[in-house]
Amino acid sequence: MENVMLKINNLTTEFKTETGIFPAVSGINLTINRGETLCIVGESGSGKTVGSLSLMQLLPPSGKIASGEIWFENTNLLQLKKKEISNVRGKSIAMIFQDPMSALDPVFPCGSQIIEAIRSHEKVSRKEASEKAKELLKQVGIPHPETVMKAFPHELSGGMSQRVMIAMALSCNPKLLIADEPTTALDVTVQAQILKLLKKIRIERNMSIMLITHDLGVVAEMADRVAVMYAGQIVEEGDVKSIFNNPKHPYTKGLLKSVPSLEDSNGKKLYTITGSVPSIASMPKGCRFSPRCPEAASACFEIEPKMNQLEQQSKVKCLIFEKGGKWET
Ligand SMILES: Nc1ncnc2c1ncn2[C@@H]1O[C@H](COP(=O)(O)OP(=O)(O)OP(=O)(O)O)[C@@H](O)[C@H]1O
Ligand SMILES: [Mg+2]
Repeated sequence: MENVMLKINNLTTEFKTETGIFPAVSGINLTINRGETLCIVGESGSGKTVGSLSLMQLLPPSGKIASGEIWFENTNLLQLKKKEISNVRGKSIAMIFQDPMSALDPVFPCGSQIIEAIRSHEKVSRKEASEKAKELLKQVGIPHPETVMKAFPHELSGGMSQRVMIAMALSCNPKLLIADEPTTALDVTVQAQILKLLKKIRIERNMSIMLITHDLGVVAEMADRVAVMYAGQIVEEGDVKSIFNNPKHPYTKGLLKSVPSLEDSNGKKLYTITGSVPSIASMPKGCRFSPRCPEAASACFEIEPKMNQLEQQSKVKCLIFEKGGKWET
């Protein structure tokens, strides 16, 4: 399909640990369309970061993609050579992280780092790259680019350094931006500014964004579509309205109920999903969410649900949606 920018088929990523080899991401299927923002949401440890690092092939040495295909436009990224994939990474897909400070090199001024990023994939002089860097910094809302160019990373606030990271990411004019918790480390006002900036850039450049977050407020603000991850799998996928207004998976419902609201503040205890995400070495049998699921039937502890396609874009991996939920008998 022409509109599809990225298509992930049956991706499984494993880690080698002291006790064995275990999957952190298990058989993920996902599509991102041109110009859309897909949010990936889920509790800590659900596999969001491992999924995105797999996509960029930036896994640590103990991690390995065990199977699957990652189609970016017409290329299966998993069949590219190392050099070819680093070209894609520099040119077509860019990534920003939660902690911009750690992604910037502390010993070089910001300007020279952006200039290097530009010159690594464009044959331009230092002077031209410097002009482009200033232009990019202006685009990401930095009012005095010259000052920031001369500054060292530690001299910038968190919000400013995230803007510099975004400028660097944009320097290659990517078609897809992967943002892993880009605003988690920032205070709420700065968070709102950065989200607004990402929206603006996406529209101006018709770029696709894969935004990873555990914050449903960010999802509501940014997403066109949402994929909910739990224990290395996608358990629900749908457009943002259907996820918020008509969540289907008990896990999605639990996540939504766990968000504080004004009505809850009158002494009512905030809902929490009991228990925690299982470790990759001890995934439960059947549905991985079953030990924590308030709606689980006995079959849920034995049978792994399929991903059920519901209306148009909506999918859910839950037995309730198979056989009309008649699993008790
Ligand atoms: N290098 C590694 N070796 C072994 N297991 C790992 C490694 N990196 C991640 N994992 C495991 O993979 C699972 C998914 O981790 P991941 O970092 O993708 O979670 P996440 O959804 O991004 O969480 P968070 O919201 O905290 O960032 C976790 O159980 C984690 O412990
Ligand atoms: Mg993460």
